[in-house]
Amino acid sequence: MAQRLAIVTGASSGIGAATAALLASRGWRVVAVARRRDRLEALAARAAAVGAGEVVVEPLDAADPDAVAAMALRVRQRYGTPGAIINSAGAGVWRWPEDTPPALMEQLLDAPFRSAYHVTYGFLDAMLAEGSGVIVHVGSPASLVPWPSATGYTISRWALRGYHEALVQDLHGTGVHSCHVLFGEVDTAYFEVNTDSREHIPSLGALIPTIPATEAAEVIARTLHRPRPLVVHTRVQQLEYVLWRVAPGLVSWLARATGRRR
Ligand SMILES: NC(=O)c1ccc[n+]([C@@H]2O[C@H](COP(=O)([O-])OP(=O)(O)OC[C@H]3O[C@@H](n4cnc5c(N)ncnc54)[C@H](OP(=O)(O)O)[C@@H]3O)[C@@H](O)[C@H]2O)c1
Repeated sequence: MAQRLAIVTGASSGIGAATAALLASRGWRVVAVARRRDRLEALAARAAAVGAGEVVVEPLDAADPDAVAAMALRVRQRYGTPGAIINSAGAGVWRWPEDTPPALMEQLLDAPFRSAYHVTYGFLDAMLAEGSGVIVHVGSPASLVPWPSATGYTISRWALRGYHEALVQDLHGTGVHSCHVLFGEVDTAYFEVNTDSREHIPSLGALIPTIPATEAAEVIARTLHRPRPLVVHTRVQQLEYVLWRVAPGLVSWLARATGRRR
């Protein structure tokens, strides 16, 4: 049987790195995408020491369409069509709308939205021709309910969710699945890289337990085996999700009332 092939973006840190390591330990060949080459190489070395699968490093800016297209061509020629894409590249400072000038907004759209779009586009025709594959988008609860003072962050996550919802419609019956996986707080470097963010999460979010990146990786790996359009992790967040479905206005009010004040 051909080795299973996964493309994982954001593989130099956090959820993406944990997912790449987990899949490689389970025998997958993982194409690890992020900008920091040294971290990707360290990940590949650790995977080689475990010895089950393989990590192939692709250091690049996933928001650069030309770089992604060249990577997709290389990967397709060398290894074929991926069975999975995990879009975990993401960043984003939290700012009020009047503090989000157009240049910052462009940057905030780069990851997770543009990176997910470009990488998925690079492989989608091949996956459709095979009639199989799972695309996982790592999302945030802010893709459902905007949090105060996180305008650009929220827009990029809503754009990612919009892309996912469009894929769910357009991929129906093709054998290729798009999955939006929502986590609460995950213990990663995210809040060190994107300073001035964690302290502005509405205290409503404090009810949701923080999980390790390895747990997030397990959820993603399970989703590859059992793809669903929406995966909400943890149970507490599932309850908040149900409340949002029943009373979206109430949850928006709670986010506002327990979030950052001007
Ligand atoms: N941590 C949480 O609490 C949490 C919860 C829910 C959802 N999320 C979402 O999950 C995603 C990943 O978060 P994380 O916690 O794993 O953060 P992280 O540890 O900071 O990792 C982010 C990853 O994205 C990569 N990246 C950023 N911009 C990129 C670009 N233009 N091209 C290629 N790679 C890029 C970074 O690599 P390089 O810098 O090397 O390029 C890094 O590998 C984010 O969208 C975040 O909003 C996080």
